Amino acid sequence: MIPFKYGVFVTGTDFCGREQELNLLKEYISSSMRVYIVGERRTGKSSLLMEAARTMPGYRFIYVDLRSVVTRGQLCERIANGLNRQGKTRQAFSRLMKAIANLRPEVSVDSITGDLKLSVSPQIQVSDVDIDKLLEMAGERKTVVVLDEFQDIQRINGYETILGSMRTIIQNQTDTTYIFCGSILNRMTDLFTDRRSAFYNSAQRMVLEEIDETEFSDFLADRFESGGRHATARGIKSILEFGRGNPGDIQRLCIGVWNQTSPGDSIDETAVLNGLANICALESDSFRERLDNLSRNQILCLSALLKQEEPFTLSNQFARVAGLGSYSVAKSAIKGLAEKDVLLRKGRSWVMSNPFFAYWLHLSDLL
Ligand SMILES: Nc1ncnc2c1ncn2[C@@H]1O[C@H](COP(=O)(O)OP(=O)(O)OP(=O)(O)O)[C@@H](O)[C@H]1O
Ligand SMILES: [Mg+2]
Repeated sequence: MIPFKYGVFVTGTDFCGREQELNLLKEYISSSMRVYIVGERRTGKSSLLMEAARTMPGYRFIYVDLRSVVTRGQLCERIANGLNRQGKTRQAFSRLMKAIANLRPEVSVDSITGDLKLSVSPQIQVSDVDIDKLLEMAGERKTVVVLDEFQDIQRINGYETILGSMRTIIQNQTDTTYIFCGSILNRMTDLFTDRRSAFYNSAQRMVLEEIDETEFSDFLADRFESGGRHATARGIKSILEFGRGNPGDIQRLCIGVWNQTSPGDSIDETAVLNGLANICALESDSFRERLDNLSRNQILCLSALLKQEEPFTLSNQFARVAGLGSYSVAKSAIKGLAEKDVLLRKGRSWVMSNPFFAYWLHLSDLL
């Protein structure tokens, strides 16, 4: 069995380090606080929440994923399903159905989990009051409401009024913890730091940084050893460096390395390069598609960026060298690359969002 996990929440023995963050989060929960957690993509925000839930059995965790939510109806659906997953009893289910009866919810059985799933028809007119009703059901003692990918609420037309009434309800639920979690640093931060936002100054900020390097190195080395591979210090270091401290990317690379090695092998720099080649081979179709989806200017811009060291910065000279003419054209190409998740903003500069895609581009010589 592959001892690394990627693309799923990790908890228990698969959860490495973060003792301090976990203790702090638990303290916030015990004090029924409002907290917003921000961090890069795949940095372990959701896993931290799941680990807190696992180790706080006396608490009811209502997990609501708002990724790509675009309508009020979908928002209601997500909250209702979060409540339902947590409720489990027949009474809780009928109470929930009663509360949202006017939305005429349909019930189906999830073919994978076997759980009941509630859905609201896109034709039903959903108001902010319907959303409030659901939040009111969540507000109980020793309850933690997690709104993951919270920044996506901004995709709903008129989201400002939703936030306004949500804030009023949340303020009154003094015994309930609310945790807002988000990956896109800027848009998430705006919600809590912009004076015009209904959530301005309403929650404690928590930033999730990298996992302690020594702890993560030992964790990864142990996992390789458990499968008879000998992890060298240089091998582990180059895995961590390639993943730039991002636990998701690091574990993904470990899976690639694992696939290319057998018991008795050493995990050295050559093994890491073979692992990278394995991932690039597996992903080449999707990387090619990514490239095909870029506009002419985005390709020019990316090609010029890749000749520089990360982090990339934008200047008039860059625009000229890239063949983009002006600063504003280069800026809009960069914006487009960020929207397509090729680039990631870091303060005033940019980095490649997916290190494997960047590596594949270097190898393939396509740009
Ligand atoms: N504490 C940890 N120990 C070991 N691996 C971790 C840890 N946290 C995260 N990971 C790795 O990162 C991956 C992504 O974790 P998770 O989904 O929790 O991150 P996220 O920040 O919520 O991501 P997203 O921004 O995509 O929602 C996991 O599948 C796992 O490979
Ligand atoms: Mg997440």
